[in-house]
This record gives sequence, C-alpha cells and structure tokens, in this order.
Amino acid sequence: MRGRWLTSAVHAGYTGALRPVLFRVGDGDPEVIHERMIETLSWVPEPMLSGLRGLLAPADDPVEVSGLRFRNPVGLAAGLDKNGRAPLAWPALGFGFVELGTVTPRPQPGNPIPRMFRLVEDRAIINRMGFNNDGAPDLANRLTRLGVTRGNNRLGVPLGISIGRNKLTSNEHATDDYLAALRAVAGVADYVAINVSSPNTPGLRALQTRAALEELFGELDEARRDIDHHDPVPIWVKVAPELTWAELDDVVAAAENSGVNAIIATNTTLDRVRADGSALQSRHAAEAGGLSGEPLTRKAREVVSYLARHTDLPIIGSGGVTSPDAALALRDAGARLVQVYTGFIYSGPALVRAIAEDWASTDKPADTEELS
Ligand SMILES: Cc1cc2nc3c(=O)[nH]c(=O)nc-3n(C[C@H](O)[C@H](O)[C@H](O)COP(=O)(O)O)c2cc1C
Repeated sequence: MRGRWLTSAVHAGYTGALRPVLFRVGDGDPEVIHERMIETLSWVPEPMLSGLRGLLAPADDPVEVSGLRFRNPVGLAAGLDKNGRAPLAWPALGFGFVELGTVTPRPQPGNPIPRMFRLVEDRAIINRMGFNNDGAPDLANRLTRLGVTRGNNRLGVPLGISIGRNKLTSNEHATDDYLAALRAVAGVADYVAINVSSPNTPGLRALQTRAALEELFGELDEARRDIDHHDPVPIWVKVAPELTWAELDDVVAAAENSGVNAIIATNTTLDRVRADGSALQSRHAAEAGGLSGEPLTRKAREVVSYLARHTDLPIIGSGGVTSPDAALALRDAGARLVQVYTGFIYSGPALVRAIAEDWASTDKPADTEELS
C-alpha cells in the first residue's frame, strides 16, 4: 500500500514539477538536458544513491535469464547512458538491470546535432544519434575504475553492454569491430548485447541476414570461449521491428545455432504511424531517425509474440513500454524481461516502480522461470 502511494507521489513530482523544467532546458534541445541529467547523476555520492535506492527501488521480484539473477524485470535500455557515466544511479532509480552502450571499438562523434527530438503529443522520441560514443575501451576503463568486474555485482544488478560497429567500417569487416568491442568489454559485462538493428548507422541492419549473423555469432562465440572457457559471457542480440516473419526465423536459426543466449525485441522503428495506425501529431514527426515510445508499443509486442512462439530462447521486450499495462502485455506476449527508454523520459522513475509492482502482483504465464 505504501509502495503504491509512493509511486504516485514520485510520478506526480516528476511529471508535475521536474519534467516541465527539464523539457525547457537547453532551448528545448533534448540532448542538452539529457547530458546534464546524466552528468548530475554521475556526481551523486554513493551513500546518497543507496538512500535513494532504499526509497525508490521496488521490492525484489527476481527473475533468472542467461544464468543471471535480475532483481526485477525492468531494465534501462541501451542508448540512455551510452558511455556509462552514471552506472550506479540507475539501480538507485529502481532498474533491475542496466544496459550501457551502444559502444563501438573506436570512439566516434555520431551525427550532427540536433539529432534527438521529443514528440510530446505522441509520447515518442525520434533519434539519429549515430552511435556517438567514447569507445568500448574507454567504457571498460571507466567501469574498471569504479570496481566493476564481470560477475562481481558492483551495481547490485546485472550489467549489460551493447556493442556495435563503427560508422566507417564496412559490413564486410563488421565482425572485426564486434570482436574488438567484445574483447574490450568482456571483463566488465554480465552480458553483451549485439546491436545489428540501429537504423542510424548506414547499412547496419543488413547484418540481420542469416548468413551474416551466422558468421558474426560464430566468431563471437569462439572469442567469448577464448576469453573464458568455463563461463563464456552471455550474448544477446537486438533486432529491428521491421523484420519480416521469415527474417525473424533466420535470426532465430542463426542465434540458436551459435549459442546466442537471448533476443532483445525491438530497436527503434523507421515507421511513422501511431499504434492505432493514425498519423503522428508532433511537428517533429518528419525528422529522420528511429522512432521510439508509444507508437512502437504494438509492433514490439507483435515481434515479441512471434519470437516467443518460434524459439525457446528468452525474449527481452523493448519498445513502447510507456505504462505498466504495456509492460504486462509484453510479458503476456512472452517477454521475460523488459527494457525502458522513452517511457522513462516521459514518466521518470515512478514508471519503473509501477511496472515492477504490477508485474509482481499479477499472475505470470505458467512457463515464466522464477527464483523463490
Ligand atoms: C535517444 C535514443 C538513443 C538510443 N540509442 C541506442 C543505442 O545506442 N543502442 C541500442 O541498442 N538502442 C538504442 N536506442 C533504442 C532503445 O534502447 C530502445 O530499444 C528503443 O528506444 C525502444 O524502447 P522505448 O520505446 O522504451 O524507447 C536508443 C533510443 C533512443 C530514444
């Protein structure tokens, strides 16, 4: 009961007081406030984060996926803290796991600014960041300085790192980039997510064919076994929402054949319609890039549902989780965990709590694997 009251209070505080201010900072360029928010969070002292966590984090509702124990099923999606500047803050805000990145083997600036747009009327974001990041070695070093090593639970929750290829690397040489990034982060990540689905790196999505994935996954599988023969780091793959059912079959076949451990569905979409098929309302609707948030809810659920019916690999739902109901619908479609980005921007930490509370208090599908 206290939990629900607190969730409502945190929601009211964020949407009523903090969000109106945040959305005006930097003349309304969302990237400015985004960077400042992460910078601020990175300075919060650890004892204060622990206090915040005691207040904000939902009660534990553990789930096991890929041999990892997730405190609750709500994760921070890739892209929000690409360079791992505030890794300790996200569990304090209630997240049950954290995915940093996407990082590439070498640092790169990404696309020209502006490249992130809020579509408030549509509860959505369009971004064309283009993997702006400090590079996989930099992220690994920062985490190491913080005391993170794979499996030591320094964050108190599992830590995933998403990796991609550099913009100037051709798909022909993409495997080398993924291998370099994997080697850089394997010592600090509890799982590594393979991003072959960002729409903002030209040609990247073409890696989602069966042949390309089999080559990529095969090499990554070999590399992770070289790094740790006894306990190779789990590998997850993240797919685009636009794949046809036949293409999803290919992803599943490639993943199952090469020991990939889970599939994240989905990344942002290039479609420009609302979930009910109507046109987007925001003035930014025609911006180039990937669309996330509410318009993606239905599509992500369809993809999760298809995958869950065609593979026993765990599915992690990402896309349009802007309410507890959207999260539960993904669970009903077969997702074992969910990740949130856009919903967090619009609703703040209360959304994480509300999803976790509803997830814990409602019936679960019979085959959901749980810890006692
Ligand atoms: C500004 C922005 C940057 C993103 N960057 C990445 C990224 O680097 N890697 C990645 O795998 N996904 C990235 N995503 C996609 C999110 O992780 C997520 O899959 C997608 O936004 C759908 O979830 P949502 O509707 O909760 O936002 C990004 C999304 C946004 C809005």
